[in-house]
Amino acid sequence: MDGMVFIITWLLILSSLLCLCSGSNSNVQCLKDLKQSLDDPNGALSSWNFSRTAMEGHSLSQFAGVTGWPGDDNRVMLLNLSSMGLQGSFPRGLQLCTVLASLDLRNNSLSGPLPADISLQMSYVKYLDLSHNRFSGEIPQDISRWLMFIVFLDLSNNRPSGEIPHTIADLLFLNTLNLQCNLLTCQIPEQIGYLGWLNSLNLSD
Ligand SMILES: *[C@@H]1O[C@H](CO)[C@@H](O)[C@H](O)[C@H]1NC(C)=O
Ligand SMILES: *[C@@H]1O[C@H](CO)[C@@H](O)[C@H](O)[C@H]1NC(C)=O
Ligand SMILES: *[C@@H]1O[C@H](CO)[C@@H](O)[C@H](O)[C@H]1NC(C)=O
Repeated sequence: MDGMVFIITWLLILSSLLCLCSGSNSNVQCLKDLKQSLDDPNGALSSWNFSRTAMEGHSLSQFAGVTGWPGDDNRVMLLNLSSMGLQGSFPRGLQLCTVLASLDLRNNSLSGPLPADISLQMSYVKYLDLSHNRFSGEIPQDISRWLMFIVFLDLSNNRPSGEIPHTIADLLFLNTLNLQCNLLTCQIPEQIGYLGWLNSLNLSD
């Protein structure tokens, strides 16, 4: 089997075992907080209606961009909010989507710094695409602390500055890393050589 598919499958199984404990109410609160913290001028999230009547008998997968876990549709597995014209800063509430495996925010107009505790907020995310936004500031040093399961990380086409944190070398399962080196000092940390799974490293200008 292709290495990437194998490892993603394995990690999905592992994290679903780890996370059966967490309640689904927190997932609803996660989406409420996300919606509240984002500017949505196009009404792309208008299907995210949390009123009791709207929710009754429905699952979270009725919401645009939300995919629940197979067999437990009230826990968010995938969030795909790409190309929705969303504005504002990095959304709040993600730590409540406790079993989130993939977050795609590609091609919006999100701006400001990435939260310093970004990896605490997304402990089990394997696929993270924040590319084509306006995020600025340093890449959090913390990025590796809990994002240890991450396989795909795309931060390209943003406005990061500073240096590539050397902790990026601790992302043991990382397969694809896309960064951009215009404002960012793209000195590759020496330790990056330890990333045994890294297949694709794209550091464009
Ligand atoms: C949410 O759903 C309820 C019940 O279906 C409806 O009455 C209400 O207008 C909806 N709210 C929005 C903002 O669409
Ligand atoms: C998110 O949705 C877009 C548009 O449908 C699609 O091109 C993209 O591949 C999706 N992202 C993921 C991670 O599946
Ligand atoms: C980016 O998102 C906008 C909507 O905000 C959409 O019109 C455009 O086609 C998207 N571009 C790409 C390359 O997906």
